[in-house]
Formats: sequence, structure tokens, C-alpha cells
Amino acid sequence: MTNSAPAAGPPPGGRIPPGFVLGVATSAYQIEGAWNVDGRGPSIWDTFSQTPGNILGDVPGDAGAGHYDRMPEDVELIDWLGVDSYRFSLSWSRLLPEGTGLINRAGIDFYRRLLDRLRERGIAPTITLYHWDLPQALEDRGGWLNRDVQHWFGEYASLAFSEFGEYQPRWATLNEPIANWVGYGLGSFAPGHTDPAGGRAAMHHALLAHGQAVQEFRAAGSPGEIGIVVDVWRRTARQATPPLLELVREEEADSFETFLNPLFLGGYSDYQLRRWERLGTLPRIDDGDMTLIGQPMDYFGLNVYNRVYVDGEPTSDTAPDFVGGNFLDSGHYYDATVAYDVLTMLRDDYALDIPIYVTENGTANCSEDLVDGRVHDVDRIAYVRDFLMQILRAAEDGVDVRGYYVWSLLDNYEWSLGYAHRYGIIHVDFDSFERIPKDSARWYREVVRSRHLLPASVLGDPALAGSEPIRDEVRDAR
Ligand code: GCO
Repeated sequence: MTNSAPAAGPPPGGRIPPGFVLGVATSAYQIEGAWNVDGRGPSIWDTFSQTPGNILGDVPGDAGAGHYDRMPEDVELIDWLGVDSYRFSLSWSRLLPEGTGLINRAGIDFYRRLLDRLRERGIAPTITLYHWDLPQALEDRGGWLNRDVQHWFGEYASLAFSEFGEYQPRWATLNEPIANWVGYGLGSFAPGHTDPAGGRAAMHHALLAHGQAVQEFRAAGSPGEIGIVVDVWRRTARQATPPLLELVREEEADSFETFLNPLFLGGYSDYQLRRWERLGTLPRIDDGDMTLIGQPMDYFGLNVYNRVYVDGEPTSDTAPDFVGGNFLDSGHYYDATVAYDVLTMLRDDYALDIPIYVTENGTANCSEDLVDGRVHDVDRIAYVRDFLMQILRAAEDGVDVRGYYVWSLLDNYEWSLGYAHRYGIIHVDFDSFERIPKDSARWYREVVRSRHLLPASVLGDPALAGSEPIRDEVRDAR
């Protein structure tokens, strides 16, 4: 995994500004396990992953990373890291097994125990309401294809605000609503539909659900903040030819602009409306939809992983061999300057006047071998360091970016890739569920403690000595 575009960054050593939040992130379905324990109802990902042919290796996500049974140990690991904040998601079907109506108190109690432990240790919670695990009972009623999902989600969000608002979380209504395209349009995520018009309708309904939750949050006067998490995969044409430049425009219109335009610019662009009309995928848009969707938020959550070089080969919309969550991640290169480009795009093209938190960034393309009980994932250290340098560069250039969460705290279930891609800074043995901090966790802990982007050599480990990222010399020479 090589960096394809070293670029300018903050001064050598990369001081992290006071108040800049450093965190780690997870999601319920990927880490909890206990899929049918203590009253939890099935979600679409339980159904999808238990259906042969959907998951690499046909491994269901039933056990996750064993977090439900190891939550106290995992909070101790988060505390050991010393991070300011922990981002996790609620399992909708653990709280409302049928999606609406009956409340599962055991589910409420689990998250209250987690939140109590975080509060006792001064770790601020960032809670995602929806990280792709719709209750199966709601899918049986049409799922995200049914506009009523706006009100089902509003009921769920209101329950969460009333039960957990006292912890003053930074709430995210949705994580990466593009997942509804992958699940209803592309067929590679749960629930596995392959209907482009349905995929686009499911994304529009996700935005309606987001707006309903914001409305409920404001009406309840709930403490904390509310926002949304959107992943932005900026495209760059391999060659500046008209066909490739048009392909870039189409793919960005179909992906992150689907969300950013209604959230921040009042609605879909004329280009988008004409394009989707032509494709026969234009969703039903009622009067009032854009007002509901475009309500002011308190912050914006950005997931950024890589730049996508467009050369005419299939990418997000047509990738036939899609696997995993980061279906655009090439695995062969990364270009951290994309973080700077996206953050300045949010400021300049969308005139964002609310704080931005980078709510996910990480990589799975590292050496994950256990050698003498250690994982020397130096590539992950270089990746995280390079992205943080670009994020801090954007902050120095006036972008109001206030935090960063590594994806992920733990090796976990990577959606359609099953357990094949490890994103954690903590190694998980998926047989014993033993946790072993990787070198990247030890490095991140030093960064958090010192508030500086230290080189990997800070670990003082001979195994790392020869792997000093050249970027230090390159950076110092700039
Ligand atoms: C995503 C999801 C995460 C993934 C991570 C690695 O961004 O796809 O939020 O759940 O696991 O990004 O693919």
C-alpha cells in the first residue's frame, strides 16, 4: 500500500491543535455479535449474511467481534488509548426488535452500561443511529423503499434521544446513506435488491428519515448535537479527456452529491434531476421534502478513505466484483491529499458553516500477521499519519475541522467481505476473540498523549526502525 501523492502538510512533527478531538470508531453490526441474544430482533444484515452466496466465504456476521460480551474490556482498551471520543452505533433491532412499537429494555440497558463506563472515564460518545442494520421486520414492510420509513425512523430516533440524551452525545442520524444504493440498487449489501430506481428512492427516503430525526431532536430539546455522516470519494480523471471528465461528473452526481446537494444547497441539481429522469431512476419528490432534509445541523461527519482515479473502468455504480464496505478502495495505493481536497470542497463549494469531524478513516491493506505476539502494521501508521497531516493542513488553511476518528477500534466484520479485511488498530482473534493492540494502536496512543503526529519510531521498537516512513525526510525537506 503506497502513498501516491506525498504533499505539503503542517510543520514537521505535526502538532495537533488544542481541542481537536481524536477518537476511534465502530458500528453495532460489525462488532457486537449476540445477534439473537437478550431480545434483539433480526436485522437485514443478519438475513443477508446468513444467506449463502452473499458473503465472501459464506461467513455470517452473527458473532461480530464479540463486543456484546466483552464491552467492559473494550471500554478499558479505549481508555488505554486515551482518546477523547468513541464513535459507535446503536442496533435498531436491539432496541426495537420489530422496528417500531415493542421496546427491548435489555437493549436499552446494554447501551446505558456502555455510556456509563464511557462517562466515568471522560470519553465523549458519538452515537450513530443507523449504520446499515435495518430491522428485518421493517424490510418485510417495504424497508427503505417505503416512504413510511421516515416515520419509523423518527419513532426510533425519539426513543434514542429520550433514553440516551442525558449523556449529551454527538448524534449522527445516518452513516453513509449510499449504502442504500448498494443494498437496493446494486444488490451487494443487505437486503440485496438490484433495482436502480429502487436504490435511488431508498437514498431519497434515507434523507427524509434523516430530516425526521433532526425534527424530533429539535422538538425534544434533547441535549447534545446532531448531524449526519457521509462518505466522499472524490473522483479524478486519469486523463483530462471529455469522456472521462463527464464520467467523473456523473459518478460524483450519483454518489456524494446525492446527499450534499439536498443537505446544503436546497435540493438536487438540475443536472442530477435531468440525468435521473433520463435513466428512469428519478425518485418521487414531494413538496416539503427538501425543507425537511435541509434543516440546519450542528456538525457534519465526513468519512474519507481514498481518491478514485476514473479511467473508464467500472467503479461504484457498475463494479461487478464489488466486495466490502469500501467498494471503491483499490487497496493498491492511497492519496491522502484527497482529504485536503474534500475538506476545502466542503468549505468552498458547499459553504459549510458548521464544524466538520472526520468520522472515519482507515485501511485494511496492511501486514496483519502476528509475529511474536505483535502486529507490525507500519503501513497503517503511515496511512493514518498522512491523512491526519492533510486534515491538519486543511485546519491550518481555515477549514473548521475539529476531529478525527480512526476506523476502526477493532478488527471486525467487513460486510460482504466477512472477516477477510482487517481495519482495526486492535487485532481480534475471531476464534477466541482475544484482543491484541497492534503497533498502530501503540503509536496512536503516543500521538494522543503527546498531541503530536509522531513518527512510528517513537515506539522505539527495533522491528520498526527500518520501516521509518520516508515521509519525515520528505516532509522536513519541504
Ligand atoms: C464504510 C462503513 C464502515 C466500513 C469501513 C471499511 O465506510 O464503509 O462506514 O462500516 O467497515 O469503511 O470499509
